Amino acid sequence: MTIQNVMVIGAGQMGAGIAQVFAQAGLQVKLNDMKQEALDKGLSGIEKRLARAVEKGKMTDGEQKEAFARLSGTTKLEDASDCDLVIEAVVESMDVKESVFKRLDEITPKHAILATNTSSLPITEIAAVTNRPDQVIGMHFMNPVPVMKLVEIIRAIQTSDETYQAIEDMTKRLNKSPVEVEDFPGFVSNRILMPMINEAIYTVYEGVASPEDVDTVMKLGMNHPMGPLTLADFIGLDTCLYIMEVLHEGFGDSKYRPCPLLRKYVKAGWLGKKSGRGFYSYE
Ligand code: NAI
Repeated sequence: MTIQNVMVIGAGQMGAGIAQVFAQAGLQVKLNDMKQEALDKGLSGIEKRLARAVEKGKMTDGEQKEAFARLSGTTKLEDASDCDLVIEAVVESMDVKESVFKRLDEITPKHAILATNTSSLPITEIAAVTNRPDQVIGMHFMNPVPVMKLVEIIRAIQTSDETYQAIEDMTKRLNKSPVEVEDFPGFVSNRILMPMINEAIYTVYEGVASPEDVDTVMKLGMNHPMGPLTLADFIGLDTCLYIMEVLHEGFGDSKYRPCPLLRKYVKAGWLGKKSGRGFYSYE
């Protein structure tokens, strides 16, 4: 199957980045959001990033115009009726994702692949609400999408080899590096990253070291570009807690229990950079 027409659902942080990389790779892309305002913001963000790429000499003016011309915005999900591939990047809620996938199953052509960018929800459960579970797959991009090379490709238990292969080929076409992952809580990325962040929070909670010192150890000692607590503040402490709960519940293992200090920060509304305060202050 040749994939030429793509829809990205959700024009937020991730969806806009995903739409941009598909357009840059020569595909026709429709960016969908239920809110016109979010759609406008997503499209103008893409335009700005492409213009910056031209300024930096990473693409020509002509390439930028061509990439932008391949993009269009819509608030109608029905416009996915001619799409070969749909990537869903709406809010991280199983209820919302299930209703989007049920509708997509009705709207899209029979051959279309339905992918989700979820960072923690089971792909197997999302696939099960459709009549084409073998054509459902996880395509987990990293933030910021135009910069980060990795795509975790997550196989639901029902995903066919043909679907996997088509998505692996597409990932390479986007000039990104695919990694094949089975559908277990946290996949690979968050299963390893989040317990490290949670452990860094325990280290502060138990008074072993200050947030600054924990981050310094990991930066200078382990050569991480950013300390785990700075990273947690960027990701959002509510998101970190949510993913730890997915791991804890999914594996039923106490090694994944969220740190009480993480819970306390979230209850206080100290969610990291987005709320102005987390382990660091951003006022
Ligand atoms: P966001 O909140 O920035 O964007 C979500 C967008 O979806 C919003 O514009 C909202 O209006 C729209 N939306 C909600 N319900 C919709 C519906 N039914 N139909 C159409 N549009 C709808 O969220 P973000 O950060 O872009 O995350 C999206 C997905 O990507 C989530 O599943 C998240 O777990 C995943 N993800 C997020 C990463 C991150 O670093 N933020 C990294 C990797 C995956």
